Parts: sequence; C-alpha cells; structure tokens
Amino acid sequence: MIPENVLQKLNEQIKHEFFSAQYYLAMAAYCKEQDLDGFANFFIVQAEEERYHAMKFFNFIDELGETPIITGFEDPKRDFKSLEEVFELSLEHEQHVTHLINSIMEIAQQEKHYPTVSFLNWFIDEQVEEETTMDNLLSKVKRIGESGPGIIMLDKELAERSFTPEEE
Ligand SMILES: [Fe+2]
Ligand SMILES: [Fe+2]
Repeated sequence: MIPENVLQKLNEQIKHEFFSAQYYLAMAAYCKEQDLDGFANFFIVQAEEERYHAMKFFNFIDELGETPIITGFEDPKRDFKSLEEVFELSLEHEQHVTHLINSIMEIAQQEKHYPTVSFLNWFIDEQVEEETTMDNLLSKVKRIGESGPGIIMLDKELAERSFTPEEE
C-alpha cells in the first residue's frame, strides 16, 4: 500500500505538469504574436513534454492500483513583455518544479516507499536538463537582445526542435 501522503503528492504533480504545459503554450502564443515561429515551436514541444510528464505520473499512480485524481488549475499568465521575461519565467518555473519533485522525493524516502523513489529518479535527472535548457536560452537572449540577426538565427535553430519522449 502506498502511504496516503505520498499518493497525494503524486496526484498533485499531475496537475503541476499539466499546468506547466498550459504555461508554456501561453508562452508559445506570445512568440507567435511576435512572429517568432521557431521560439513558438520550442514552447509547443516543451508543452508536449510536460503533458508527457503528467501522463507518467498518471500511469504510475494507475500501476500502483490507485485512481489518478484530475483537477483544474488557475489560468497561466499571458501578458508577457519580452523574450527575456519569457525565459526568466521559464527558468523560475523549472526551479519551482524541481523543488516540487524534490519534496515528493523527501516524503517518499521518509515513508520508505521505494517504488516512488525509483520512479522519481527519472524526474530528478530530467529537472537538471530542464533548468539547464532554460538557463542557456535566457543567457543567449540576454546576450543577443530582443531583435536583430541573432534572434532570427536562434529562431531558426529552435524551429528544429521536435518531441522525442525517450530521449528528452
Ligand atoms: Fe515537467
Ligand atoms: Fe519541465
């Protein structure tokens, strides 16, 4: 039997991951509005990844013989001012998600629920990658500015990103 507090945290994480997807989709919409289709593609793919993360929690809860709980959440922000702000918020958001994953891990370890510990290891690694990606893009955007040839080149590069669940 999975301890109730661990199960509750796993269920809450389904919501956080789906929220992440909506948040990144809102950022994609902002990029579309700025005619930055490559940046928009980056965030659309990011949103796909987040839905994939949400489903990993959903499926894990199901595999434990429990019923996943699906809830709603608040509207994501959509009044972005600049690309720099978008990447600052993306990095902040990933740091927040890392904190959430770490706190589930702490509870799972306290409760000695090793299947959850093992399941979460993938997410611990994933969050390192997520934070690095957002941090790199934030640095690049800061360096090259909001417009000009640098942004057009980066936009082209980000247009190439596609969703590959097993390699993400
Ligand atoms: Fe995620
Ligand atoms: Fe993420």
